[in-house]
Amino acid sequence: MRLLVTVCALLCCALVCSELLHLEADQDTSVPSDWTHVGRAAPHVKVELMFALKQQNIDHMKSLLERISDPDSQQYGKYLSLEEVASLVRPSELTQKVLGSWLQHHDVQNCQTVVSQDFLQCAVTVEVAETLLQGSEFHYFRRDDQSLVRSLALYSVHEDISQHLDFVGGVHRFPPKKQEVAKSLTSRGPAEAGFHLGVTPAVLRERYNLSASDVGSVENNSQAVAQFLEQFYHPADLAEFMSLFGGGFQHLSTVDRVVGTQGGGKAGLEASLDVEYIMSTGANISTWVFTNPGRHESQEPFLQWMVLLSNMSSVPWVHTISYGDDEDSLSTAYMMRINNEFMKAGLRGLSMLFASGDSGAGCRHLTKENVFRPSFPASSPYVTTVGGTSFKNPYKVTHEITDYISGGGFSNMFEMPDYQVTAVNSYLKTAQSLPPNGYFNASGRAYPDIAALSDNYWVVSNRVPIPWVSGTSASTPVVGGMLALINDQRFRKGLSALGFLNPRLYKLQGKALFDVTEGCHMSCFDELVQGQGFCAASSWDPVTGWGTPNYPEILKAMLDA
Ligand SMILES: *[C@@H]1O[C@H](CO)[C@@H](O)[C@H](O)[C@H]1NC(C)=O
Ligand SMILES: *[C@@H]1O[C@H](CO)[C@@H](O)[C@H](O)[C@H]1NC(C)=O
Ligand SMILES: *[C@@H]1O[C@H](CO)[C@@H](O)[C@H](O)[C@H]1NC(C)=O
Ligand SMILES: *[C@@H]1O[C@H](CO)[C@@H](O)[C@H](O)[C@H]1NC(C)=O
Ligand SMILES: *[C@@H]1O[C@H](CO)[C@@H](O)[C@H](O)[C@H]1NC(C)=O
Repeated sequence: MRLLVTVCALLCCALVCSELLHLEADQDTSVPSDWTHVGRAAPHVKVELMFALKQQNIDHMKSLLERISDPDSQQYGKYLSLEEVASLVRPSELTQKVLGSWLQHHDVQNCQTVVSQDFLQCAVTVEVAETLLQGSEFHYFRRDDQSLVRSLALYSVHEDISQHLDFVGGVHRFPPKKQEVAKSLTSRGPAEAGFHLGVTPAVLRERYNLSASDVGSVENNSQAVAQFLEQFYHPADLAEFMSLFGGGFQHLSTVDRVVGTQGGGKAGLEASLDVEYIMSTGANISTWVFTNPGRHESQEPFLQWMVLLSNMSSVPWVHTISYGDDEDSLSTAYMMRINNEFMKAGLRGLSMLFASGDSGAGCRHLTKENVFRPSFPASSPYVTTVGGTSFKNPYKVTHEITDYISGGGFSNMFEMPDYQVTAVNSYLKTAQSLPPNGYFNASGRAYPDIAALSDNYWVVSNRVPIPWVSGTSASTPVVGGMLALINDQRFRKGLSALGFLNPRLYKLQGKALFDVTEGCHMSCFDELVQGQGFCAASSWDPVTGWGTPNYPEILKAMLDA
């Protein structure tokens, strides 16, 4: 969305007659409550800006991705190398030239580009940044021992530049809130025979029918978790977790590759959870951890990770990520561009799995009314979004019901993609009860796509086994590990990786999944909806997607092309 700044337009008209345009007029620039304003940043202070250059062939990329991830297409699984993706989307000569000379004109020299030349990361002084990005005003902000430089004032650039630029990263967005995985401290009573005291790898493997021989065996198969926000996993925690809970199946107890800077200090519960569980379902599969690519002041860790991934020619096939922001807090330009980046990943055959969030349908308080609050990237049509479930009987391996925290709903940003239209419309038509129309946008991309247990996990963090850890950040690596196992079997048969899963997943129409049909997730606590969002139903629903994987069945269904 671009708003015209009329005052500036008048000023510049006499000179170049080029209008000033905002690139991210709809970006929320309020300061998150956990950050405090420190003061104005001095002119010589360095900031890292990430210029997202306009790409080419987006429509072509979109239709190519549709074919490449459709199991009924001749082109299924014929993935592109990074170099091939790059030559498709690389910005035009003109775009590169215009931006190059703009930066040069302002004496910006320290820029790094990427293979596809669609990002330029530049270290500039505040003085230069404020000249390039008119209207911006950089200030220091602090949270605990972190500090960063941000502008709360919107920026604009001249029209001749804005034509070639999607947005500039490192200006507005604060790192997302630490998404604390919930820990319930209530004790759940004594253990009895046949009862379990929480979810462990053995419980998951039993529920999802993974036998001892369902482990990875292909040398170059791989999977990854990404962690942001000063979250670290500790190798010693992983080793202890596997010695406590890794009985009965072949597994690895160490991470193969850490990309980025692992800080010292205490381990994060979230980071421990991701690594421990992707390596329990995706057992004996080489695992990478992408960690805090954005620790430098003023960087955006998620954007930084996205850029890093799209600049490495060889990366794991499956990625699970627990990051999310409210859709309404992010600019259209940013979300659209990140969505393109997910398409690029899909063309390369990468599977991108995102946690659906832990606030059910969410709630946004507007002046007159409340509406549900979708979360991004969960709402992107080009990622696979994972919701959460609980056991019907919390002490037994029973069938699953909705975990009321399970994020789900309808995007206000992205249209409903073709692959899900039939499933979603059938839910909307047949659901027993739906929230009032005004709360959600029935024409948007609906999520999640799939689910897994998200309640009552055991995690080892800082050498201590911790019970009752919950959140869709648990279900996401569990599903990720299973996809990596399916990839493993596919590689053994000479087949391609699964890549972007959704078109194939929706074609199964729920076959090979345990349908979750009980329970509703949470939403606004107001008179109209009284805390209730959507409810699970047979087939697809916006709480648990198609349900949870029955591994042997889903493997069979995904081994034939
Ligand atoms: C992308 O990778 C190249 C080669 O490894 C490197 O020189 C460049 O700095 C990277 N770009 C960014 C933005 O990190
Ligand atoms: C998988 O698990 C379900 C429920 O736990 C069970 O009924 C079924 O027989 C198992 N095996 C297969 C191959 O589906
Ligand atoms: C574990 O993976 C390795 C290859 O990475 C393979 O050689 C080994 O056979 C696998 N173990 C099992 C039990 O399949
Ligand atoms: C695994 O490695 C072999 C040998 O380097 C290569 O031919 C094959 O394409 C690789 N498979 C995958 C899925 O990367
Ligand atoms: C509903 O979603 C569509 C995209 O599917 C979007 O164009 C429209 O603006 C959304 N409506 C609201 C009220 O956000």
